[in-house]
Amino acid sequence: MEKKQALQCVVLFVCISASWISVESLGNGLGLTPQMGWNSWNHFGCNINEKLIRQTADALVSSGLANVGYEYINIDDCWANYNRDKWGNLHGNDATFPSGIKALADYVHSKGLKFGIYSSAGTRTCSGRMPGSLGYEKQDAKTFASWGVDYLKYDNCNTDGSAEKQRFPVMTQALRASGRNIFYSMCEWGYQEPAKWGAEVGNSWRTTTDIKDTWSSMLFNIDINDGYAKYARPGGWNDPDMLEVGNGGMSYNEYVAHFSLWAISKAPLIIGCDVINLNKEAHSILANKEVIAINQDSLGVQANKVKKYGDLEVWAGPLSGGRKVVLLLNRGNQGTKLITFNWADVGIPPNSAATLRDVWLHYTYKKTIRHKLTVRVAPHSCRLFVLQPV
Ligand code: GLA
Repeated sequence: MEKKQALQCVVLFVCISASWISVESLGNGLGLTPQMGWNSWNHFGCNINEKLIRQTADALVSSGLANVGYEYINIDDCWANYNRDKWGNLHGNDATFPSGIKALADYVHSKGLKFGIYSSAGTRTCSGRMPGSLGYEKQDAKTFASWGVDYLKYDNCNTDGSAEKQRFPVMTQALRASGRNIFYSMCEWGYQEPAKWGAEVGNSWRTTTDIKDTWSSMLFNIDINDGYAKYARPGGWNDPDMLEVGNGGMSYNEYVAHFSLWAISKAPLIIGCDVINLNKEAHSILANKEVIAINQDSLGVQANKVKKYGDLEVWAGPLSGGRKVVLLLNRGNQGTKLITFNWADVGIPPNSAATLRDVWLHYTYKKTIRHKLTVRVAPHSCRLFVLQPV
């Protein structure tokens, strides 16, 4: 009898723990590689409407960007009416999204793409122009699910002052209960170091404040993000904010470095420019399949900074198949510099020979290389290689 009771206790305990885990953690199976898509904020801010979003979906497909992996069309702030309706529901802004959000999501889906939306873990969003979801998490998650939303970016403005660690998981559970599998992109700007707890809560978490379309802001964000490299993993990624490539504030070489750093850091590749009027240079950067493949590599390990001498840096990380990715960065503006790295710096056995592929030149060097490599790197530029030990 006593034995039987003890067994019942164990069974009960196992059941309780199992249900606790399944309620607490997101576990939605999404984001096995970093998410790729487009978001309205960096280029358009609050200046958005349904025509723009539909044309962007069209352009993502016609430009070939959808074909190389960009799949989410995400509307950021300012999509809803100023107030909820009398039942407490959110609605698309009557002036700018008159057909409603469900119709827009249907259109995006008809293009073979996925649809994302935005809210805040506060009473209003960051623009102040629409309500946030604090206190309405379940209701809003249900609304999003009923519209066919695939992705939620959840911001951190106009809060009640409670901890992010408490507020963000409320939406995790609301999404789980919504009846639809929704990617959860947490945006609490690194306040409570979400890299350390985010994997249970969301699919990605911002590690920084908002990016600006400048070389220094881009580097500032990727440096902070680098400090959390070890926490990134399939299903949960560090997010140093969306891409500025194509917005005009940086040179071609600077945007190549921006995209390369995001790719090796397994950062979300969320385009932040106007893809309807995309220039050729930006297209060639965003559509580089070899660089995208580094970001989407099945191993899912974030590369990090392994060496620094003043403005010169070596970043490296493992890829599937025993390959290594190596990025050489010249942050300075004082002319072309030589950067050297040793095999030990990038995790290759010292005596191994390796082949070297430049993924921007799309060129594999004829000779294999041993021990170390020295490369010329122009100012405000990077070189990006994949090494295959042979
Ligand atoms: C915050 C976020 C941005 C953007 C704006 C919208 O600043 O960090 O990415 O969503 O809000 O108001």
